[in-house]
Amino acid sequence: MIKGVIFDLDGVLVSTDELHYKAWKRLADEIGIREFNKEDNEKQRGVSRMESLEIVLNKGQKRYTPKEKEALAERKNSYYREMLETLDDHAALAGVVATLEMLQTKGILIGIGSVSKNAPLILAKTGLLKYIDQVSCGFDIKRSKPDPEVFEVAASKLNLKEEECLVVEDSAAGVVAAKAANMKSLGVGPYYKILGADYQAKTLLDVINWEKILC
Ligand code: BG6
Ligand code: MG
Repeated sequence: MIKGVIFDLDGVLVSTDELHYKAWKRLADEIGIREFNKEDNEKQRGVSRMESLEIVLNKGQKRYTPKEKEALAERKNSYYREMLETLDDHAALAGVVATLEMLQTKGILIGIGSVSKNAPLILAKTGLLKYIDQVSCGFDIKRSKPDPEVFEVAASKLNLKEEECLVVEDSAAGVVAAKAANMKSLGVGPYYKILGADYQAKTLLDVINWEKILC
């Protein structure tokens, strides 16, 4: 029986996955890596900022020192945070608010399992924070998805056993992490059919079998 639902944030509750891409693309262009594209960006879903940077740098020839890499990641994050300023309570994706309200009505606990260090800011700016019981984010973990740590921390903060939690994800790395945490998963987003999740829906608006998913 599911007692808690742990949502990934970027690409599940808010379309910040697009903003991540724009910010990385701007950085890549500035450092002469014009080959960085959407396909590379798909590999960045669910992985940490520094691992995402490596995906960009691998498309170019130049080698950078750890200090230079820190500065590049910081630069991308400043572009990204500039974009986050535009977020407001219209930014939640289709079906998100209705789903959160439905879960609250049923007494299901709601957690966030995101490797992003910007998760608290995004939740505050979009007004979604009021629905969330516990947040597990980039500040709580040492390893990013596909490691299960971010979901294990979320379950522990919710005071639930792993098998009492369902994960909602838009990334393959996140679904692998959910399985490794012994949690069922619902895959959403553009790649929902190929994520390997237990349940699938293009958006939260399209989930019709919550009764089955939560049993
Ligand atoms: C994840 C995104 O949610 O957060 C990744 O899917 C991103 O693409 C990661 O790299 C880290 O985000 P941030 O906001 O801490 O740079
Ligand atoms: Mg995501």
